[in-house]
Amino acid sequence: MFDALKDQAPDKILMLMQTFREDPRKDKIDLGVGVYKDATGLTPVMRAVKAAEKRLWETQDTKTYTGLAGDPAFGAAMRDLVLGDTVAAERVAAIATPGGTGAVRQALELIRMAAPQATVWVSNPTWPNHNSIIKYLNIPTASYRYFDDATRGVDFAGMMADLGKVAAGDVVLLHGCCHNPTGANLEAAQWDEVIALLKARGAVPLVDLAYQGFGDGLSADAAATRKVAGGLDECLIAASCSKNFGIYRERTGILMAVARDGTEAKRTQANLNFLNRQNFSFPPDHGARVVTTILTDPALRADWEAELEEVRNSMLGLRKQLADELRKLTNSDRFDFIAHHRGMFSRIGATPEQVEAMRADAGIYMVGDSRMNIAGLNATTVPILARAIVAAGV
Ligand code: LMR
Repeated sequence: MFDALKDQAPDKILMLMQTFREDPRKDKIDLGVGVYKDATGLTPVMRAVKAAEKRLWETQDTKTYTGLAGDPAFGAAMRDLVLGDTVAAERVAAIATPGGTGAVRQALELIRMAAPQATVWVSNPTWPNHNSIIKYLNIPTASYRYFDDATRGVDFAGMMADLGKVAAGDVVLLHGCCHNPTGANLEAAQWDEVIALLKARGAVPLVDLAYQGFGDGLSADAAATRKVAGGLDECLIAASCSKNFGIYRERTGILMAVARDGTEAKRTQANLNFLNRQNFSFPPDHGARVVTTILTDPALRADWEAELEEVRNSMLGLRKQLADELRKLTNSDRFDFIAHHRGMFSRIGATPEQVEAMRADAGIYMVGDSRMNIAGLNATTVPILARAIVAAGV
């Protein structure tokens, strides 16, 4: 049987992790996979997470199954974190999922069940796994322009022109904040225009919110998602707790479906439960329970928010330092976009050859499309990167 299997192309981001590990150079710099690292290169367990885990260890008296949708308290806490009071709770169906990727996968499966003919529109570029899962599920897909190579900002005119071709019932995948891989994001007024266009076209948005709290702050980063949910009859939201709670390996995420009314939300909920049952039965619980413990305890929540702010500000500081450094080295403002981008990533606009040169000559690892993880830097490595960018002729 297994001899019939075809070779699989490895995931580019995960392959880069491996190549980095195998590089013997001591001064190598990992700007690949989207994992937060502090100035010493560690991905720490957040203080509130440690405290919540301790509390759970002391008080949890069973590990029996939760419901198929996960712990209802997790659903309520995440609905509040992501949506605030934008939509009535009775309109929201939700399932806990294995990470944000699990939420994206379940969203796409729901779309395939409800509207098999719908095309899923993705930004060009998008997180490569979006395209990969869509292809794997055989879902019709198309892309809309997003990144302007010249300005390294959003090609908003191109985006609007392409979204103008979306058919009624099609799905448009949007990054709620901190666009991956580019770091370029829509302005608030541009979100309004996108929402009006989706409404006019009768499209259903699928918002991927993987970096809430990494851009401009917890509620600022949810603002676009809230506008989408508040402005349209239906939408899907895949939210991840991997980055903002730093619990990557716990696989904690949620899929929310905002339905037209309570009756449709109930039917949608039953379908989401069904999908969990088919794919893995009950969702993982430990990370979700840690998140719920933090979000529902005022002291833990305050400490988590404070540490998340430290993380966010450290990335902003590195962005500014890198942009300043490049300003000095190039005597120009052409890298100022790095300070305007938000989240973990910036696509710096290097060619694959330049990316390869930086890896070979300076031991700097970024994804082949020149996406770099800002959190992989520290105050000492920023000038090294700046010099390598200039030496590679970017
Ligand atoms: C990334 O884009 O690097 C992260 O979302 C990690 C992943 O799974 O690819």
